[in-house]
Amino acid sequence: MVVTWTAAALVAVLASTAKAIDIAVHASGGNDTTRMPYGLMHEDINNAGDGGIYAELINNRAFQGSDLYPSNLTGWSPINGARLSLKTLSTPLSSALPVSLNVAVSNSTSRTAGFINSGYWGIEVKKQEYKGSFYVRGTYEGSFTASLQSAITNETFGAVKVKSKTSADDWVQHEFTLVPKIDAPNSNNTFAITFDPERVSGGSLDFNLISLFPPTYKGRANGLRMDIAEAFAELQPKFLRFPGGNALEGPSLKYPWLWNETIGPLKDRPGRPGAWNYETSDGLGLVEYLHWCDDLGLEPILAIYSGLALDGGYVNESDFQWVIDSALDELEFITGDPSTPWGAIRESLGESAWTINYVEIGNEDWLAGAPSGFESYQTYRFPLLMQAILAKYPSMQIINSGSFYETPAIPAPAIGDYHPYREPDNFYNEFHKLDNLTADNLTIVGEFASVHVNGGSDWDGDLYKFPWWLGGVAEAIFMIGNERNGDRVLGATYAPALRNMNRWQWSVCLIEFEADTSKTTLSTSWHVFHLFSTHTITHTFPTSPEANTTSLFWVAGSREGYEGQEDSGLVVKMANYNTTNHEDTPVSLSFEEVESGQEAHLTLLTSSEGPWGYNGPYTGSNVVVETKSVVKASGNGTFSWVMPEWSVAVLELGGS
Ligand SMILES: *[C@@H]1O[C@H](CO)[C@@H](O)[C@H](O)[C@H]1NC(C)=O
Ligand SMILES: *[C@@H]1O[C@H](CO)[C@@H](O)[C@H](O)[C@H]1NC(C)=O
Ligand SMILES: *[C@@H]1O[C@H](CO)[C@@H](O)[C@H](O)[C@H]1NC(C)=O
Ligand SMILES: *[C@@H]1O[C@H](CO)[C@@H](O)[C@H](O)[C@H]1NC(C)=O
Ligand SMILES: *[C@@H]1O[C@H](CO)[C@@H](O)[C@H](O)[C@H]1NC(C)=O
Ligand SMILES: *[C@@H]1O[C@H](CO)[C@@H](O)[C@H](O)[C@H]1NC(C)=O
Ligand SMILES: *[C@@H]1O[C@H](CO)[C@@H](O)[C@H](O)[C@H]1NC(C)=O
Ligand SMILES: *[C@@H]1O[C@H](CO)[C@@H](O)[C@H](O)[C@H]1NC(C)=O
Ligand SMILES: *[C@@H]1O[C@H](CO)[C@@H](O)[C@H](O)[C@H]1NC(C)=O
Ligand SMILES: *[C@@H]1O[C@H](CO)[C@@H](O)[C@H](O)[C@H]1NC(C)=O
Ligand SMILES: *[C@@H]1O[C@H](CO)[C@@H](O)[C@H](O)[C@H]1NC(C)=O
Ligand SMILES: *[C@@H]1O[C@H](CO)[C@@H](O)[C@H](O)[C@H]1NC(C)=O
Repeated sequence: MVVTWTAAALVAVLASTAKAIDIAVHASGGNDTTRMPYGLMHEDINNAGDGGIYAELINNRAFQGSDLYPSNLTGWSPINGARLSLKTLSTPLSSALPVSLNVAVSNSTSRTAGFINSGYWGIEVKKQEYKGSFYVRGTYEGSFTASLQSAITNETFGAVKVKSKTSADDWVQHEFTLVPKIDAPNSNNTFAITFDPERVSGGSLDFNLISLFPPTYKGRANGLRMDIAEAFAELQPKFLRFPGGNALEGPSLKYPWLWNETIGPLKDRPGRPGAWNYETSDGLGLVEYLHWCDDLGLEPILAIYSGLALDGGYVNESDFQWVIDSALDELEFITGDPSTPWGAIRESLGESAWTINYVEIGNEDWLAGAPSGFESYQTYRFPLLMQAILAKYPSMQIINSGSFYETPAIPAPAIGDYHPYREPDNFYNEFHKLDNLTADNLTIVGEFASVHVNGGSDWDGDLYKFPWWLGGVAEAIFMIGNERNGDRVLGATYAPALRNMNRWQWSVCLIEFEADTSKTTLSTSWHVFHLFSTHTITHTFPTSPEANTTSLFWVAGSREGYEGQEDSGLVVKMANYNTTNHEDTPVSLSFEEVESGQEAHLTLLTSSEGPWGYNGPYTGSNVVVETKSVVKASGNGTFSWVMPEWSVAVLELGGS
């Protein structure tokens, strides 16, 4: 007891007498930084795409399957004695969608029969406009009813009649708009299509591509889920790296991400078995990613397939030509003049050309299939693709899928891509790692996150259950390291960004969600990322001391909107990790341009539950405490404030 009392008293004394860290920021020197310091990355994991940011509400809408994940009736069940079965008809809806749903109603004793879909672990029902459609083949003289109802009580929240336009031998699309009369009390709801069995000829009807969308971000048809896109937009990101990640590689060489099979009408997209153990619809395809860039104002970082699969298989050099052709066709589809073959196809889809400035060749090619897979990347996969792309598009920035740490000699003019997934202490210990990059060693950080708690090795043990505050502070240290080297680190993004709480494949993500949008949770890491990504430094300022003490880390620079060094648009980003005795760290910061009495805005983030606090999606809690204050420069032009242990802050002169 006495010992504990002594220790506590000692802490109190140290806390009250801790000496301020004096930091002088110099207005001359430093480096211009990139204007896209932070961005987003999409990876099809955790139902981040289907059942995630892709707003489609119907699960397994087109019975897509593969030999890895054969077509099945997941999500579907019959109503009133209907019998559901999958059929591979001789006249399918399309060659891409060969399997359809047969609904047999000859035994139904009710005036209505049909089927329901349970959505992606529920469907959120609100008084808003849902746009739906389905294809039918068969003969039915009557109306279909499309409705949304409770899975618990069967209460109908909204229904609409859709007059049949069916034809015995043709697939006919039916479209409808459904506006529920009330908001459902929870998201345990289903979507149903019912019809009158007595008006069906032949005892059954065939259905396919049954789709239902709530309002989408910026009203795009086939668009993005609104609340998730808004949570991304709030980060003011500058780029999007897509389509992956492992998603690009596919599970085996048989199933690459083929851009050409993700474009055009939904009925022409076969879908594919993704890298994360489920079939994906590819409704979120190449054009949808580019719309995502358009709608959030993002620079596309387009990853192209490089002939490596996640199981380590890689395309041999003698067979490699199709990989090159596919990449060039993809670039022509996106950027080509309408007079080019693929440019013309894009125009026929109603899309004008986009500009691509960044092309990444593959994903983590140093990892799967190493060492021979990596050797194939270095000897022919990377050089052949880079040469072919630069021959046609000399000004595109090529990105190698490895960093200078895995591939010391990334061939010029390519830049690298660094993916640190770390224990927090590793980010802390590696603070100076990126200082090593030379002016020739430009890189992006296409993925990073604190994933494991301290004490294991990086990849041993379980991921932590959610992003946690200590991990977030370590991420802030890493981001400060990036920004200090912001002339060479062109941009960084956390990954993976999203997790549907009903699929557990990777637990640490920026945003957790489920069908019920009121449960969407911004993680502790989202808050740290947000603070830094919404305060852009366009030029770094040297400081003394250079960048850190043993617990405190910082970077100073001029704020976006202030060009050059003359202006006083100062931004300081700071993180305080573990202090010796858990004491606060007083900071005293001077800047040559600052006069007495000048005001700066301080935003300080701390955790109400200490370093282990996290934002649990089921609790609605936010442990991140944001404290905003105005700090006035003292007589000698010094700003003073206190950084508690485990805190992250931005001080901004002239901002808000
Ligand atoms: C500017 O970049 C150079 C290397 O390119 C580096 O040595 C120097 O520390 C950087 N200055 C600042 C203030 O980050
Ligand atoms: C109708 O019921 C009979 C007798 O139970 C059964 O053999 C038959 O398969 C059922 N047909 C359909 C379409 O469900
Ligand atoms: C929805 O409600 C049903 C019936 O109460 C229950 O069996 C099911 O687990 C619930 N599903 C979800 C996603 O809550
Ligand atoms: C809801 O409808 C289903 C299918 O028609 C039926 O099996 C179930 O008993 C109904 N539940 C309630 C609570 O009425
Ligand atoms: C898409 O491209 C791949 C590779 O070039 C090709 O094998 C495949 O047949 C194409 N798919 C379609 C639907 O044209
Ligand atoms: C059914 O198909 C879905 C979509 O392809 C797949 O994710 C799921 O694992 C399959 N379920 C079963 C039981 O085969
Ligand atoms: C690549 O070539 C080797 C040697 O000829 C062969 O064993 C292998 O199956 C080939 N791989 C593929 C994916 O074609
Ligand atoms: C930087 O790039 C040069 C080639 O330009 C290479 O020799 C060197 O190994 C790289 N260094 C680091 C630390 O990446
Ligand atoms: C930086 O590079 C030097 C020389 O290449 C090397 O000795 C050192 O370990 C590197 N430091 C880090 C943190 O990577
Ligand atoms: C902080 O900076 C000092 C030099 O000022 C250095 O010796 C120390 O290793 C750094 N600490 C960390 C954790 O990077
Ligand atoms: C705290 O700091 C020391 C170095 O001073 C380090 O060894 C330790 O692992 C740090 N981490 C945590 C989580 O306290
Ligand atoms: C400026 O004044 C403050 C007290 O107002 C003092 O703590 C600090 O050390 C001084 N800084 C410089 C650079 O003189």
